[in-house]
Amino acid sequence: MLAPRNAARRISERARGSTLDFVGSHILSVEQFERTDIDDLFAVADAMLPYADRQRITRVLEGAILTNMFFEPSTRTRVSFGSAFNLLGGDVRETTGMRASSLAKGESLYDTARVLSGYSDVIVMRHPVEGAVAEFAAASRVPVLNAGDGANEHPSQALLDLYTVRRELADRGHAIDGLRIAVIGDLKHGRAVHSLLKLLVLFEDVSVHLVSPPGLEAPPDTTAALRERGHAVEVFHTLADGIGHVDILYVTRTQEERFASQAEADHYRGLFRVNQAIYTEHCEPNTVIMHPLPRDSRAQAQELDDDLIANPNLAIFRQTDNGVVVRMALFAMVLDVAAQVHERAQPVTWYTARRTPPSGRG
Ligand code: CP
Repeated sequence: MLAPRNAARRISERARGSTLDFVGSHILSVEQFERTDIDDLFAVADAMLPYADRQRITRVLEGAILTNMFFEPSTRTRVSFGSAFNLLGGDVRETTGMRASSLAKGESLYDTARVLSGYSDVIVMRHPVEGAVAEFAAASRVPVLNAGDGANEHPSQALLDLYTVRRELADRGHAIDGLRIAVIGDLKHGRAVHSLLKLLVLFEDVSVHLVSPPGLEAPPDTTAALRERGHAVEVFHTLADGIGHVDILYVTRTQEERFASQAEADHYRGLFRVNQAIYTEHCEPNTVIMHPLPRDSRAQAQELDDDLIANPNLAIFRQTDNGVVVRMALFAMVLDVAAQVHERAQPVTWYTARRTPPSGRG
């Protein structure tokens, strides 16, 4: 890693060459990004590691306010966006659940955006309706980051997933170019998958196995660009057929909240379960196991079995840790402080358990 000041200078110089002008931009879809933008964002994320790892503190966003608006359940996206902002020195205000908001009284997204953007420097929003975050952003006077809109997109999740892929493959001597990945489960409704498939278009020579039960295939528009760019895309309907000969297994939950009926969701729950025995039988050694989480740990589901917890290739908690640095990088670039992060850095003064194993594994 570069020394902080050199890293900051390089980040500033590279950011000027970005195709996406991050500063002041809404982040609504991964389709906004070019490959150079990803490189820039990940360079900033790398520079955030000492802060997320509690080796140093910075107050570069002191005085700034993030409003976190989550109108669907969330654990890691809401808390990691909030933690990322706090780690940069900013304050966080939150609204969670539709009933706790005046949207429940009939207030429009337009009025809500006009009001809350008067109180905030940046807004993060999750909403159950596709396109609702973009509608809100159109009326906002401050940048809006999409934390998931219905079954459409989850851009920050895809960015942290790709960042995780990059780190895990680097540990194994590979780059993202040439990636072989199996995405598994509910590919029809999984917004994290939709965003990730669109991001992979930016890389070279990617091979994607789409592994789902019949009826839960990825929508054609999420794979069209991959096919057009000449990447290998194959469809499988069994785990045994689809999970061999890949570098990454990206497992997803049956998104029961998106189904028309509970009975329909119940039909699919538990059909695909990746466990240690299946992994040992079908996967190459050191195949990385990822999942955007939450995984469904109920006995009837277990799409990622608890017996994988001792497998060193299970990267799901490294993935969630990476969410903090990627979200710190998004805030730093959108609010134009990436080059200043280190200027007021100090060592931490309290006890901290070392959080990031040197190899990135564990
Ligand atoms: N991955 C993800 O979006 O998790 P949460 O729903 O807990 O935020």
